[in-house]
Amino acid sequence: MEFRGHILIVLIVTVLVALPVPAAASLVTFVFGDSLTEVGNNNYLQLSLAKANYPFYGIDFTGGKATGRFTNGRTIGDIISAKLGIPSPPAYLSLSPTDDAILKGVNYASGGAGILNETGLYFIERLTFDDQINNFKKTKETIKNKIGAEAANKLCNEAFYFIGLGSNDYVNNFLQPFLADGQQYTHDEFVELLISTLGDQLIRLHQLGARKMVFHGLGPLGCIPSQRVKSKRGICLKQVNQWVKEFNSKVQNLVTNLNGHLPSAQMTFADTYQDVMDLIDNPTAFGFKVSNTSCCNVDTSVGGLCMPNSKVCSNRADYVFWDAFHPSDAANEVLAERFYNSLFANKAPSPAPLPSH
Ligand SMILES: *[C@@H]1O[C@H](CO)[C@@H](O)[C@H](O)[C@H]1NC(C)=O
Ligand SMILES: *[C@@H]1O[C@H](CO)[C@@H](O)[C@H](O)[C@H]1NC(C)=O
Repeated sequence: MEFRGHILIVLIVTVLVALPVPAAASLVTFVFGDSLTEVGNNNYLQLSLAKANYPFYGIDFTGGKATGRFTNGRTIGDIISAKLGIPSPPAYLSLSPTDDAILKGVNYASGGAGILNETGLYFIERLTFDDQINNFKKTKETIKNKIGAEAANKLCNEAFYFIGLGSNDYVNNFLQPFLADGQQYTHDEFVELLISTLGDQLIRLHQLGARKMVFHGLGPLGCIPSQRVKSKRGICLKQVNQWVKEFNSKVQNLVTNLNGHLPSAQMTFADTYQDVMDLIDNPTAFGFKVSNTSCCNVDTSVGGLCMPNSKVCSNRADYVFWDAFHPSDAANEVLAERFYNSLFANKAPSPAPLPSH
């Protein structure tokens, strides 16, 4: 068993360094996630309180438009899509059920969503990871109807699946003292619940044809402005970062395990914790000035979104954080560059370039 695990690790490392950049024309990507990757699904959920379709969101996006992205400009996914030479996949709810666009990829991400169903309950409406997988199932049915079962299976087997969830299971669930999960479970119990639920979800995606899945690990959540304000001096919460690292390492093990058991699975775990930590610890090395507060100046542990009456900083590219939860466009550019290099470029990550000001 030990021996077997060792071989698996070697295989995964090989996949990580050797993924060739796929030909753009044939590249299909499906995105599952939360507000870090949403491109506008929640705009269509009338009652959702997790929305970003008003100023000053999108102030640095094409046309200065608030699209539902929870940042001033592009998400990491937008930037990676551009590097791959494909359009950023559209929001699932923006498409008509029979739209041909689904053949090129879909984004199912929803702000407030978590691995657990009960995560983000107070946003009233959001698409949980289970909802997102159900929606992908519907997409697959539609693809089958369009191109036939065999071609649909091939398309789904060859597509890339970017999955980034878990932040809300902490920030908008376990770490909120007035919600049940933080009272009911110790962290050991909670992280086991997350991992077993995530395992079932990844198996389900595999059953639906997903093979090349990339799970994006959590960043140092103890250092985001909404957590710092809980400390007296505005410092990172060490306990929270410790929990996040435990989660990441357990997901890494889960992925290794699933790769060993699921036929043709090529899952990778992308650990971006240290990349984000580098930006936070040493912002000036990357061309930033501030990493301990948000450009929107909305550091609270409950609200924390940038509102139309917020007092936005004058130079948005000076800040690592746009609001109390989400990185700025400039920070996303640095993070996407590193993420892309670790996934696709057949070389060690190079020093990130300074964001363009
Ligand atoms: C979560 O909700 C989905 C429906 O959206 C349901 O299929 C699933 O069983 C639920 N999971 C749990 C653990 O209750
Ligand atoms: C952020 O760090 C700067 C410089 O170390 C400090 O002066 C400032 O008070 C900090 N801001 C917050 C909100 O903690």
